[in-house]
Amino acid sequence: MHRKKIILDLDTGIDDSIALAFAALSSEVELLGVTGTFGNVDTMTGVRNALDVLALVGRTDVPVLAGKTCSLAQEQFCRHAESARIHGENGVGQANLPRSPRVVEKEPAVDFLIRMMNEYRDGLTIVTTGPLTNLATVLLRDPLLHTWRGQVVMMGGALTVRGNVTHFAEANIAQDPEAAKIVMESGLSVTMVPLDVTMRSRLRSSDAERWRSSGSDVGRLFGCMLDYYIANTLGADETYIHDPSAIVCALHPEYFTILPFHMTVETEGVDRGRTVVDHRRLRDRNPATKVCLDVDAGQVERNLANIW
Ligand code: RIB
Ligand code: CA
Repeated sequence: MHRKKIILDLDTGIDDSIALAFAALSSEVELLGVTGTFGNVDTMTGVRNALDVLALVGRTDVPVLAGKTCSLAQEQFCRHAESARIHGENGVGQANLPRSPRVVEKEPAVDFLIRMMNEYRDGLTIVTTGPLTNLATVLLRDPLLHTWRGQVVMMGGALTVRGNVTHFAEANIAQDPEAAKIVMESGLSVTMVPLDVTMRSRLRSSDAERWRSSGSDVGRLFGCMLDYYIANTLGADETYIHDPSAIVCALHPEYFTILPFHMTVETEGVDRGRTVVDHRRLRDRNPATKVCLDVDAGQVERNLANIW
């Protein structure tokens, strides 16, 4: 089977961890590396979680690299109380993941991304499930990569629904609107997987129960993490499928209704962090950015039901 070359750029909280485990175990994915960013947790906690998740699923061959530690506009990352509530103090729902003896690679994530993007000019997909700071920094550092022909699939934004941080802004975009604007307007092929679709698919307490009863350590720990996430997000026995939807979209875009739009991001005023169609470009042809507006939720849910 042809496997898709993927790099994951994560702010490893609970749904990022599920996305990572899913990609790491998928026979459809060749996982080239994991780059870490801030968001649900600080960058170093996130890469620590990524190392532990990879060890848990037996993928200690995948390099993990640490990326930017705060947004383009700030000098320091300040974790939102809401992130700690949803993902737990340790980012993985207070689960005691066995500590991986591995350490993060010496190479910075941005250097790694630049190296990989130059090596694979078109056969690589970068899936982002956190703020876009690493990718924006890549473009600022190496403007020639604006002509890169690979794919970016990003979980983030909201087009036809409200944001989940402010009325307008979704969390990953809200963390670094300037970075998101750079990426959206870069000319890279970006597919946005926004709240419009991620909130239509659900993981349920019955999935957590099934994962737990698989008898493996990984199933038990991820079952606990999912229960934690359900209890602190939607409640009522189910939750949205944000980050794993981006992996499913990278592998199976046919499950989604995807429309091309010239997307941009508002960086001023009350709608700072809002993802919108660029009104200046309404008559321009062939947008590089696309937006998922509908999804066959059953397909996404089935993909995630039996990971272990
Ligand atoms: O809005 C959902 C996104 O915010 C997800 O990536 C979640 O992990 C948080 O970062
Ligand atoms: Ca995330």
